[in-house]
Amino acid sequence: MEIVTTVTELREKIKNWKREEERIGFVPTMGYLHEGHLSLVREAKKRSAKTVVSIFVNPKQFGPAEDYQIYPRDFKRDADLLEKEGVDLIFCPSVEEMYPAGYKTYVQVEDLENKLCGHSRPGHFRGVCTVVLKLFNLIQPDEAYFGWKDAQQVIILKKMVGDLNLPVKIRPMPLIREKDGLALSSRNIYLNSQERQAALVLYRSLELAEKQIKDGEKQAAKIKQSMIDLISAEPLARIDYVEIVDVQTLDSLEKIDGDALIALAVYFGRTRLIDNLRFISGVIEK
Ligand code: PAF
Repeated sequence: MEIVTTVTELREKIKNWKREEERIGFVPTMGYLHEGHLSLVREAKKRSAKTVVSIFVNPKQFGPAEDYQIYPRDFKRDADLLEKEGVDLIFCPSVEEMYPAGYKTYVQVEDLENKLCGHSRPGHFRGVCTVVLKLFNLIQPDEAYFGWKDAQQVIILKKMVGDLNLPVKIRPMPLIREKDGLALSSRNIYLNSQERQAALVLYRSLELAEKQIKDGEKQAAKIKQSMIDLISAEPLARIDYVEIVDVQTLDSLEKIDGDALIALAVYFGRTRLIDNLRFISGVIEK
């Protein structure tokens, strides 16, 4: 496994692989890897000749009051995990390598970036799209893997790839949970034991929504309110949003009579967790 930190070195490796017409699978990450990330890596390995993982805590996607400085980092552990998975190359640039002094160019997916997480994280998706487009340009992957955990990110990146005619296929992969239902996230490390316990209410609220949908409830407002009531009964939970939206436009739905995304963001102490359930072609995925 090669570890590359500069654009020049990376371009050289990619040029050689492209000359050999190797299919490249790419998993962008911010490190502190968990089973969710590794599931993406395994899928990439299965489908491509070469697998690249980037590890870059992207400052452009954190707001000024967010956790950029304290975001968990453990490169040695990440590299060991990726070596075991048989990854071909890790790209782990410095901030200066990605954004040299005088950097000025950004990518925005209008409208979608302001919905759901966009309200409380202005500029977040602009940062995500910018770094992902840069990484796509550098790595030139045939396929790129993202977890459904960040459903809005998947939907926005698909839109960016379509709108900009990028020659890469976005492959969203299932959300991975702990045995007790908590969605895997690098940020779970911030939770103390009471918050960790309280956070199970997220999965319970999604299960409640699932049951209502299965029982034939179509009114989005009713499902949403029952989720809000359940989460609000947990004293350590502070709701940022609970929304039921169209999976393409992210506009609120009144009725669930086709595909829908039920997405939520809830604070436990200072930690903001997101989770979701997707109802697509009559099948519930969570
Ligand atoms: O999902 C993430 O970890 C990040 O948003 C990504 C896609 C690696 C971009 O920094």
